[in-house]
Amino acid sequence: MSKTTRLAIALVLGLGLLTWAAWALVHRTTQGWFEKDVRLRADLAVRGARRSLVAHWTNPSELSDVLAEITRDERIMAAAACSDTFETLARTRDYPAVFSCRQVGDLRRESRGGTHDLPGGEVHVSALPLEVDGSRLGFVVLVHDLSFLNRREATMQRFLIGAFALLAMSASALTFLATRWAFRRWSDELRSELGSQAPTRPEFRPLIGDVRALVERVVSERDAELDAGEWNPQRLKQTLQRHLHGERIIVVANREPYIHERARDGSVRVVNPASGLVTALEPVMRACSGVWVAHGSGSADRETVDVHDRVRVPPGEESYAIRRVWLSEAEEHGYYYGFANEGLWPLCHIAHTRPVFRAGDFEQYSAANRKFVDAVVSEVDSDDPIVLVQDYHLALAPKLIRERLPKATVLTFWHVPWPNAERFGICPWRKELLEGLLGSSIVGFHTQAHCNNFFDSVDRYLEARIDRELSAVVRGGHRTFVRPYPISVEWPVHWLAGLPPVARCRQNVSERFGLKGDALIGVGVDRLDYTKGVEERLLAVERLLELHPEHRGRFTFIQVAAPSRTLIERYRQLNDAVVALAQRINQRFGADGYRPVVLLHEHHQPPQVFELYRAADVVYVSSLHDGMNLVAKEFAAAREDEGGVLVLSQFTGAAQEMPEALLVNPYDVEQAATALGVALHMSIEEQRQRMRALRRHIAEFNVYRWAGRMLVDAARLRRRQRVRLAFDSTTDEAA
Ligand code: G6P
Repeated sequence: MSKTTRLAIALVLGLGLLTWAAWALVHRTTQGWFEKDVRLRADLAVRGARRSLVAHWTNPSELSDVLAEITRDERIMAAAACSDTFETLARTRDYPAVFSCRQVGDLRRESRGGTHDLPGGEVHVSALPLEVDGSRLGFVVLVHDLSFLNRREATMQRFLIGAFALLAMSASALTFLATRWAFRRWSDELRSELGSQAPTRPEFRPLIGDVRALVERVVSERDAELDAGEWNPQRLKQTLQRHLHGERIIVVANREPYIHERARDGSVRVVNPASGLVTALEPVMRACSGVWVAHGSGSADRETVDVHDRVRVPPGEESYAIRRVWLSEAEEHGYYYGFANEGLWPLCHIAHTRPVFRAGDFEQYSAANRKFVDAVVSEVDSDDPIVLVQDYHLALAPKLIRERLPKATVLTFWHVPWPNAERFGICPWRKELLEGLLGSSIVGFHTQAHCNNFFDSVDRYLEARIDRELSAVVRGGHRTFVRPYPISVEWPVHWLAGLPPVARCRQNVSERFGLKGDALIGVGVDRLDYTKGVEERLLAVERLLELHPEHRGRFTFIQVAAPSRTLIERYRQLNDAVVALAQRINQRFGADGYRPVVLLHEHHQPPQVFELYRAADVVYVSSLHDGMNLVAKEFAAAREDEGGVLVLSQFTGAAQEMPEALLVNPYDVEQAATALGVALHMSIEEQRQRMRALRRHIAEFNVYRWAGRMLVDAARLRRRQRVRLAFDSTTDEAA
């Protein structure tokens, strides 16, 4: 028998017992009242008829008439007159034989009356003495009908039970309503305590602690869930739906994913810029939709927007919008070329180019950041939007957004390395930059080492508390989490869908560059930037040809060198140096139409780049310093045939994730040349094993996981914020 059944039985028995006790009490009390009432009636009847009784006491027939007169009272059934010695003197006609005067005498000795059952109902017999001048003549015996008593008692019981039931029902209803009301009030109060910044009710403290523990547990379960399984656009979309209720995402970055350029023939063409940031974020936006706020830098950008400066993209399969921000020439110079690319870019990369900081540039940088933030604010559709701020061009934006939208969730991702504190200290506006970034809810870097450098910089240049355990900076009551989120590429890469198989790509490339059928192809794909180590790369190619004469005439290195930031002197110098170096190598080893280095000095669209990756025997990524480097990941993603070898600089973020590549120090030309030689001689089996491992990693850690992790962290923050605020202030109060 279950516990509940036992409890129910006990409850029913208890209630039954209680009802029986109440009933017995009522019965006894009413019986007492009624008997008293009957006795009084009998007294009155005999007293009223006393004179006639005395007068006719000795005359039986007259006495019978007097007795009959007494029984006219409807409650007196019968009457008899007994002598003092209990002989019957007279009686009414229907006087019950069971009550003879003799028996009445016996009763009399015990009491003045009693209750007796007669067939057909209860009766009460009273024997009342009749006295004249102190001497007793005898007794008058009256038989009362008590059946009315039973009726009355039944009515009374019904009334009592009804009253009890009504009372019980009203009490239950009242209790139920009161409990509901109290519960609602309690939960409302708890909810407001959880949401309030300064909870006042001490009785909620343990509960708030429990709620927090529960949230932590759910969060860690979600973490485990996040780490499992494959990430793709659908999963990212579902994650957004589930964790952020499908909220619109606003990305703000300097570079736009689609640039409209007017070609020489007057037509407008769409250019996909060479930018790691764009490579990573564009597939995310396609999956999530929303708005991408960016500088409208294309010559036909103004002609292609609507009245709100928006254009829907990707062309032909529109799923999100670009909101273009217009910058004057002076702003672009000071903000983009000046502070961002002559100041911050060399500051963040260890590539031995001296950063240049000009006050005028910083003014333009601040003004441009404000312009981007204006556009963000005009695009939001709630007071707590999710804004993804991108890169070193917009370091001041998080604080500006926080000032205007205090409840916003601002995720900032820094796509380049963060220098060590000493180096960062070179910047005259180091404090402003740090304060700007700390307006974010989360600041993300590619690696833990960059997070550590950021903490050290905050520690050295700001008054702030660093919570290493939570990986956060607390300043002015605001907490910013600092986390590593290694960026990646989409998987599978959508550009591959339109490309022919690897062998065909190889054939196309060979034909295009006039290579022999047995040619060995090396590929490098970069913006022409001094951080990419293009000079060191070409030096390694030169050394390879010195070390391996068998490759002369056979090995060609195709370098895509997309022009970049060409208004900056240092980039022009680099261009000249690379061109001169390529010429020198080609002069040294070129012959009969064979050129060991093919320098492609123009921007390439993604399908052309992926064709090169598929044609390559070796891809060499030689960055002197790189936050991540997505060329390395794109190359692996492009090689469905599991062929080709990646030679990768150990100074890229990617090197930490891709140990199956041949890792080199690009400054060590000898080592790099040897690695290129090893790559060109590597067996197909070894290539497959290495490439398979690289591809497996990128398939798993693709850009959808990167975005998913950040967005889920953002969602968690939004939820936790309320609980933590409540909990922190209650514990502070308690302390
Ligand atoms: C790096 C930066 C990006 C930038 C890209 C191309 O990857 O982190 O923010 O978009 O270089 O540079 P550009 O100046 O052409 O945008």
